[in-house]
Amino acid sequence: MSARSAIVLAGGLGTRLRPLTEERPKQMLPIVDRPMIEHVVGKLAAEGTDDVVLSLGYRPDAFGAAYPAGRCGGVGLRYATESEPLGTAGAVLFAAREAAAGNGCAGGDDPFSETFWALNGDVLTDVVLSDLLALHRARRAEATILTIPMADASRYGMVEADASGRVSRFVEKPAGGDATSGWINAGVYVLEPSVLSRIPPGRAVSMERETFPAVAADGGLYTLRSDAYWIDAGTPRSYLQANIDLVSGRRQVVLEAVSPQATVAAGAGVVDSVIMEGATVEAGARLDGSVVLPGGRIGAGAVVTDSVVGFDATVEPGARVVGFTLLGDGATVEVGEVLRGGRLSGSPAR
Ligand code: GDD
Ligand code: MG
Repeated sequence: MSARSAIVLAGGLGTRLRPLTEERPKQMLPIVDRPMIEHVVGKLAAEGTDDVVLSLGYRPDAFGAAYPAGRCGGVGLRYATESEPLGTAGAVLFAAREAAAGNGCAGGDDPFSETFWALNGDVLTDVVLSDLLALHRARRAEATILTIPMADASRYGMVEADASGRVSRFVEKPAGGDATSGWINAGVYVLEPSVLSRIPPGRAVSMERETFPAVAADGGLYTLRSDAYWIDAGTPRSYLQANIDLVSGRRQVVLEAVSPQATVAAGAGVVDSVIMEGATVEAGARLDGSVVLPGGRIGAGAVVTDSVVGFDATVEPGARVVGFTLLGDGATVEVGEVLRGGRLSGSPAR
């Protein structure tokens, strides 16, 4: 069972990951061995999708530059680029219309005139997507969303449903007293084309705040609950976690923590960390719970804990970078300097 076409939302500003996202959208940040978007699209491809429209806004050229032939993660890729942010539902409508008009691709039939996928482009998961589609079809749902359990729902969409999976309530980013543990929107949807006609064109529309509550009120919104691996890689902590989980056996696949194109001195200590291609870790340096992006350099005796060292960034000998610090492209932490939870921009070379 498959839905052949998908819209993947990748137009956000990536604000929470600045300065890493100053030069590129968050979906072009690497997770271990390839950009985030390839993990997302590769998952769709593995479950039978062969046509993906990337919904873009912020720095769209990064995708075209990386995938000039219009292929990514094993599927045909096309692009729908908004001139201004349209919100999560507005972006889905715009992308579907662009595809129907044959823009951004070779044209052909309208792929969104039948059941299709829509995904947040920062979600990595081992959930079996075809289970979601099966529930959608069994319930004759208008829209079906994946939900996963979360101790604190406040930065997600909270979803309440009955035993059949019918959603009674969808509250985006529940505030104050509403924010409890529960099942949260995992950003993976199966949608009928009728959802598109609910989205008013020409303005920003939120799927979570406007469209889903309306579908729920009409009784057409269902959910599949899963406790399989899932993460939204869009915050400093979760971006680190998404990397580390892929090398530490928490995922269905286990990738190499240290790229074969990285150089790690024999006397360096590397624990629960990812070192990407072209990165260098000198003797006596210690890394724990951290990610070094391509070209990053960790000097002798430096300590990096729970932090991201950006593209071509340098932590000079003896420096300490701890507490969810993000170093931007080409940033330099001077000899002996201490950074704790900060954001340091540099001078990008790529
Ligand atoms: N094209 C386009 N246009 N894409 C957008 C826009 C837009 O205006 N706004 C956001 N996006 C993209 C982002 O790039 C991201 O891939 C996705 O839409 C979701 O946006 P986030 O900014 O990452 O949202 P969130 O993480 O705070 O919340 C969403 O995801 C949670 C699960 O990860 C919501 O869907 C929550 O309900 C959900 O729980
Ligand atoms: Mg997100």
